[in-house]
Amino acid sequence: MYTEKVMDHFQNPRNVGELENPSGVGTVGNAKCGDIMRIYLDIDEDQIIRDVKFKTFGCGAAVATSSMATELVKGKSIYEALKVTNKAVMEALDGLPPVKVHCSLLAEEAIHAALWDYAEKNGIKIEGLTKPK
Ligand code: FES
Ligand code: FES
Repeated sequence: MYTEKVMDHFQNPRNVGELENPSGVGTVGNAKCGDIMRIYLDIDEDQIIRDVKFKTFGCGAAVATSSMATELVKGKSIYEALKVTNKAVMEALDGLPPVKVHCSLLAEEAIHAALWDYAEKNGIKIEGLTKPK
């Protein structure tokens, strides 16, 4: 049911943990099931994501998608990170079973929420980023 890449990222998730003085933090949850995801971003003066960590209370697909999402945004600019959609993450994982697609949304939403937090703290506007729900 899961691809090798999903299994790999689930069993050896990358970038798990917290950052001490993050530039931005995003926490999102699915009210229905209670699953939660939090992403920490460390962004330098050139708006490049230097480091990223995540924590999740969710299923294997949520862990795998967060892990892959953090790999995809690390070292990228905030605008490149905005393009890391749940679709892009799923493609990088060679797909997810249809019933698990909603879990992949948590990672995208958490990254957007963390970028929003960063923008607010720094009084800047990130073109194309909408306020998280
Ligand atoms: Fe809840 Fe996947 S995160 S089932
Ligand atoms: Fe909650 Fe999948 S069941 S996000």
